[in-house]
Amino acid sequence: MLRKYNCLISAGPTREWIDPVRFISNPSSGKMGYAIAHEACRRDFHVNLVSGPVSEPKIDGVTTTYVETAKEMANAIYSYFDKADIIIMSAAVCDHRPKQIYSEKIKKNAFPDKIEFERTEDILYGLGKKKEDYQTLIGFAAETENCEKNAIEKLHRKNLDWIILNDVSKKNSGFNSQFNQVTLFSQKEEKIVLEISKKEIIAKQIFDIILM
Ligand code: PMT
Repeated sequence: MLRKYNCLISAGPTREWIDPVRFISNPSSGKMGYAIAHEACRRDFHVNLVSGPVSEPKIDGVTTTYVETAKEMANAIYSYFDKADIIIMSAAVCDHRPKQIYSEKIKKNAFPDKIEFERTEDILYGLGKKKEDYQTLIGFAAETENCEKNAIEKLHRKNLDWIILNDVSKKNSGFNSQFNQVTLFSQKEEKIVLEISKKEIIAKQIFDIILM
């Protein structure tokens, strides 16, 4: 019997807390990552999904680890990484977190005019450094300008097999939409443009391409 593929997928945003009632984040709904996890499960892969805070229902047959911050996401992803054959990072991980996290709610009048930020760990970059030959590592690139150039730069800098470009400036696709329009670029210099479609269809097409 063929061994099942182990698939590791990240989805949704991270939240970086300022105080117990405030955080910075982004509009990721998790729909793209959950559609990918659904599709991987439908193909009978063993699926570990690391999910930021989203409203998507839990998927039967998928092992889901819920996280909030970039740090928690990094810890969960690293714990599953070695066993994963295919890794798809569709999560919108915050690149920055407040330097100081206040333990009590900051009173309105005491709220600072300026908040200092520090970089979070670039999880995908770290995975690219650890990647072994048996692993296929795939990232998304959410871009609003110089999209193709920036995506290809990420493909190489993060040592990925594929990068999936998401032009998030387009209306009715990308963040928090049922639809997406993506272009895939590979290390082998392939470029595959997919038509705007429901995220479930995009997920199927992504697997058809990467498993070719
Ligand atoms: O969740 P939805 O509403 O369905 O929207 C889907 C989506 C738009 C969020 C998704 O399709 C998408 O584009 N995800 C990637 C968003 C992103 O963070 O892109 P980026 O270009 O900033 O990051 C590049 C890659 O590095 C991504 O794979 C990201 O997961 C990863 N990354 C980024 C920062 C960080 N600190 N660690 C990371 O691993």
